Amino acid sequence: MTNRIREGDYVLLYLDDKRTYLVKAEKGKNFHTHKGFIRIDDLIDNEYGSSILSNTGVKFIALKPTLCDYVLKSVRKTQITYPKDAALIVTLSGIGPGNTVVEAGTGTGALTCALAYYVRPNGKVYSYEVRSDFIEVALKNVRRAGLAEYVEIKNKDVIEGIDEREVDAVVLDMATPWLVVPHAYASLKPSGAFVSFSPTVDQAVKTVEALRENCFVRVETIECLLRRIITEPGRTRPETLMTAHTGYLTFARKALKA
Ligand SMILES: C[S@@+](CC[C@H](N)C(=O)[O-])C[C@H]1O[C@@H](n2cnc3c(N)ncnc32)[C@H](O)[C@@H]1O
Repeated sequence: MTNRIREGDYVLLYLDDKRTYLVKAEKGKNFHTHKGFIRIDDLIDNEYGSSILSNTGVKFIALKPTLCDYVLKSVRKTQITYPKDAALIVTLSGIGPGNTVVEAGTGTGALTCALAYYVRPNGKVYSYEVRSDFIEVALKNVRRAGLAEYVEIKNKDVIEGIDEREVDAVVLDMATPWLVVPHAYASLKPSGAFVSFSPTVDQAVKTVEALRENCFVRVETIECLLRRIITEPGRTRPETLMTAHTGYLTFARKALKA
């Protein structure tokens, strides 16, 4: 895989640890910042990792964007699933290359991007969303991350049912996940993974109850707290402020009925 910046690629311009900019390498364009502008033509054909000067002589580094950069810089219509939660969703459910995953709701498409990234190169994410205006924005975010071919977004209410069968995982981030549990059971292959993200304990409890009533096993709810560390020589310590709460993650596996 080439490490050169080609026309149409995305580049993360790094100024310092607090300031980064996701820009598209489009010929003839300038990218304006408060530190002057960058000529995009100067980026094209350079290697990722190289530095570039703005017209005022300020140095930026051209980094290759990660999945996280695309997700955190997405145009947001809803609250998004943060990378710390998306990472647990993917790893604890065993989602991987070639998997078929059903997701609801799509929202901004941040979790859709993470799921699509991991089912590549021959898997698919079917994502249900009731709001057509959200779908347009989510599609833009998924396309920008280069993941559109692994995603199909459906303008459907998942409470009315899931079309897909024999899927590897059902992943929910919506207000009433417990109402989807019977549909998830019908859609999943035996041993398949159910995951639900909910901001409140009340939602998690209702979901766990529904899972136990519907022949799911290995039901567990967890919360992930992430604390950043300021690493300065002689002054290394945790940051004072943190995002103390995003949501509870409930995991379960489908068992066959006796
Ligand atoms: C918090 S957002 C999801 C954010 C998403 N995980 C992300 O990372 O961008 C919840 C979404 O679920 C959608 N939703 C709620 N109920 C739904 C349902 N019954 N079927 C499909 N989508 C639903 C909402 O319209 C909203 O867009």
